[in-house]
Amino acid sequence: WSKMSEQIGWVGCALTVTMRESNLEVLRGDAVTLPCSFFTSSPLTKLNVIWTLAPFSSPENPIQVIVYDHGQMMEDPSFIGRVGFTGVPWSADIILNDTREADAGVYRCMVNNPPETADLGIGELTLTVLSRPSLPVCQWEGDIAEGGSVTLSCSVEEGIPTPEIEWDKLSPEEIPLPVNMDGDPSGSVQIVNVSSETSGLYRCSASNALGTEHCYVNLSIYTPDSPSGILQGVMLTLSMSLVLLAMILLVTWLHRTGQDGRWRERKEDEESYNEIRYTPSLIKRSFV
Ligand SMILES: *[C@@H]1O[C@H](CO)[C@@H](O)[C@H](O)[C@H]1NC(C)=O
Ligand SMILES: *[C@@H]1O[C@H](CO)[C@@H](O)[C@H](O)[C@H]1NC(C)=O
Ligand SMILES: *[C@@H]1O[C@H](CO)[C@@H](O)[C@H](O)[C@H]1NC(C)=O
Repeated sequence: WSKMSEQIGWVGCALTVTMRESNLEVLRGDAVTLPCSFFTSSPLTKLNVIWTLAPFSSPENPIQVIVYDHGQMMEDPSFIGRVGFTGVPWSADIILNDTREADAGVYRCMVNNPPETADLGIGELTLTVLSRPSLPVCQWEGDIAEGGSVTLSCSVEEGIPTPEIEWDKLSPEEIPLPVNMDGDPSGSVQIVNVSSETSGLYRCSASNALGTEHCYVNLSIYTPDSPSGILQGVMLTLSMSLVLLAMILLVTWLHRTGQDGRWRERKEDEESYNEIRYTPSLIKRSFV
């Protein structure tokens, strides 16, 4: 190739880089080839290629994904075993295997082939890593007593494009609920002035183009005036009255038997007292 270049005589032309794509999408976990072609008129013995990535997650901290320099290669630790050139030195294309969300961002392919002009050939492309929504987390907070207000929230960690959040009430009847998305990353729903009709099963759906995942909340509103509450109250009062009645009867009976006993004792005391009272006089009499 280098011989051919020399023969054709590119000398004098600056090295140029062409990106065959400017935007690429890949499903997380899949492989993707990032294309970067270049034209040079010099031999390739001193070719130097650097791929950098400015990740969407931290664009201010670009990393060197892979470097080709004088036939040697060096990879960033986060890409070791996952990245490789596919046709170096003829092309600067690389393949990324087992893609992750963190691989998304702006890639730059920089090709330098001394002694060709100092003009660095640079190409740029954007890689988007698509992923299904992860399992969302459903939560509720608030006052579940009648008349209170309850907030249902649903948060989903992963998913590109950003999953949309929907809330539905599933039972006893199915109704969609309005979600308050503005300024709230976790799709939340506020239910004010809750009543027994608010009780039921609620479902959050997190969905994007690649799929949908659900989580659920089972709400039961505490209503002190519910019919079962009244029934319980009546039953409790009734059983307590019965116990009270039984206790009154018992106390009365004990009281009466107790009085009888004491009365009999006193009578016996009186009799014996009488006997003792009479005895001295009997003795006196016998002495007389
Ligand atoms: C990427 O995966 C392909 C197919 O499994 C494999 O042939 C290739 O060697 C891998 N490349 C790297 C850099 O791991
Ligand atoms: C709450 O709901 C009940 C009936 O469900 C209604 O009578 C009451 O006026 C409502 N209160 C407020 C503050 O909206
Ligand atoms: C929701 O809770 C109620 C009462 O606590 C229960 O009867 C019902 O089976 C629950 N439903 C689900 C789907 O868990």
